[in-house]
Amino acid sequence: MDTQSPRRILVTSALPYANGHIHLGHLVEYIQTDIWVRFQKMRGNDCIYICADDTHGTPIMLRAQSEGITPEELVNAMHGEHLADFSGFLVDFDNYYSTNSEENKQLSQEVYLKHRESGHIEIKTIQQAFCPNDKIFLPDRYIRGTCPSCGAEDQYGDSCEKCSDTYAPTDLKDAACSLCGTKPVEKESEHHFFKLADFEDFLKEWTRSGALQDEMSNKLQEWFTDGLKSWDISRDGPYFGFEIPDAPGKYFYVWLDAPVGYMASTMNYCEKTGRSFDEYWRQDDLSEVYHFIGKDILYFHTLFWPAMLKGAGFRTPTAVYAHGFLTINGQKMSKSRGTFINARNYLKYLNPEYLRYYYAAKLSSRVDDIDLSMDDFILRVNSDLVGKVVNLASRTAGFVNKRFGGQLADSYPDDNGLYQTFLDAGEEIAQLYESRNYAKAMRRIMALADLANQYVEQNAPWVLAKEEGREQDLQNVCSISLNLFKVLIAYLKPVLPKLAEQVEGFLGIDPLTWTNLDTPLAAHGIKKFKHLVSRVDPKHVASLMDASKETTAAIPAPSSTSKNKENNKNKQKHMEEIGIEDFLKVDLRAALIEKAQSVEGADKLLQLTLDVGPMGKRNVFAGIKANYAPEDLEGRYAVLVANLKPRKMKFGLSEGMVLAAGDGKGLFLLGIDDGVTAGSKIK
Ligand code: 2FM
Ligand code: ZN
Repeated sequence: MDTQSPRRILVTSALPYANGHIHLGHLVEYIQTDIWVRFQKMRGNDCIYICADDTHGTPIMLRAQSEGITPEELVNAMHGEHLADFSGFLVDFDNYYSTNSEENKQLSQEVYLKHRESGHIEIKTIQQAFCPNDKIFLPDRYIRGTCPSCGAEDQYGDSCEKCSDTYAPTDLKDAACSLCGTKPVEKESEHHFFKLADFEDFLKEWTRSGALQDEMSNKLQEWFTDGLKSWDISRDGPYFGFEIPDAPGKYFYVWLDAPVGYMASTMNYCEKTGRSFDEYWRQDDLSEVYHFIGKDILYFHTLFWPAMLKGAGFRTPTAVYAHGFLTINGQKMSKSRGTFINARNYLKYLNPEYLRYYYAAKLSSRVDDIDLSMDDFILRVNSDLVGKVVNLASRTAGFVNKRFGGQLADSYPDDNGLYQTFLDAGEEIAQLYESRNYAKAMRRIMALADLANQYVEQNAPWVLAKEEGREQDLQNVCSISLNLFKVLIAYLKPVLPKLAEQVEGFLGIDPLTWTNLDTPLAAHGIKKFKHLVSRVDPKHVASLMDASKETTAAIPAPSSTSKNKENNKNKQKHMEEIGIEDFLKVDLRAALIEKAQSVEGADKLLQLTLDVGPMGKRNVFAGIKANYAPEDLEGRYAVLVANLKPRKMKFGLSEGMVLAAGDGKGLFLLGIDDGVTAGSKIK
């Protein structure tokens, strides 16, 4: 028996921005965290799950402006929406608050003032882009222009989406305010900086304290090597946020008060429940604090945040757990493919527990990305959840209801040690949950489910039910399988809380925990079995994908003026346009295929020797082998992109590219009519 006193644990997920709806990408984190918290509670620990909306900053201010409402009205409306989405997915916070709160203002000021008193804040004058028309300083994301490295047009002020180069907004060619198109001017302003380097020794020690996954510690080492730079924590008004004490017109940058929101939400929770805030945040020996985050916000949570806490006299986190991104069908979420799926839409078509189970089956303690492949999702949920787990009850409960008045056998029958085997697996499964290795936990649980199903198949209650004088055997087999089912449901309860609740109702038992499983149910009455979970219907998945094509799940970052909104809308509907000058850069030539041959070790490629007339001969690899025998190509013409930079491939140098068209099933060369000679320019 576990005689240890319960752990006191505070858990957070990253605070979602108040200007967008919750989508399936967000839900990886909230489901991961919720499973962990539910598991801790089932273990008897005193665990609370704290979150809030992240409400401040320029995008929220501008979005409210464009909708003609105040930022407060916007964030209030979003608060309700977010909560509804979370509860739809059974994500159960102990407190869901807002960073735009009195508690957060007090705590943010406290953090800042403590650092100021101890000399960790410096004020520097910096130059920043300012829109003379909108009269605001422009964050990098609100400046667009031509990339200084590759010349791609309409790129953000901090990095280029084409060539991935990063730069300062002042480096952009023809920079323009993305709200109104005006050319920004440089303007001076005083900013407050947090001297992160003052905390280098502390941070190095904290990083080694076991607070981080290995992959993250390595990343941090790189940052230490690069040197810790002072962090700009102020923004000029107008800005939706908290004003900095003694600095009129200057506001805390949203990323300063956002993590303080973890504390503010805890404070609000403590005000409501009479618990002690200090025991969570001002002392480090009374509770454990865990932050679940995405890998993109590591810097904030593993450098700025612990340093802010340390210098202001608060405790530091026990651990920060980062997860990877979500891809859908192997790719980034995309509206045109119907994979930008928001929470609300999903819930219209599919059961939230399908997704909770699928994510659990994919999640590990590592920072790897996870993929939601829709075909795999259907298979996995149907075969595991319905085929292995729910079936166990549906194949046996009916007999107990109909033949034995709902009574299980008087004493638990001999099951060859199966029930004990199930109990013995409990600690291992618990350790897998504790270490966030949910995928392994699910595999372990499904292996138990396989054992239970084998037992049922071997003892075939449906055969016993037809045989004379086998009443007791039938009741025994059904009692055993329902008891095994009960243990499986207990182990799955952190992932499938609603299913567990239905099962607790049907079995007529107290809420399942990790510690009340020891005795199997015997001489116990169960209720009438009701349908638990249906199979995933692929048609519903298809409808969800269709519906997701139509909705705009995310708000495109800057969309202040109506003109700009129009632009954004058009960009979503149409392909990106290029000017004739872009097209003319491509040198297309008629090329005679002199020779075509297979390439050893490449099943899709053909190696082509092309005659391009006055331009000479070219060697090109083309992925068209599936549809052509090499000899049939010899003597034909193809369209060659002649000025494509030669590419070194495993098999040799490819000097250009031949054009082909495909519909996903085949890839066919574009032809050229008779009368054209090798090397002719195609216009
Ligand atoms: O990246 C984000 O979505 C932020 N809103 C997360 C904030 S987490 C915390 F620091 F508040
Ligand atoms: Zn402007």
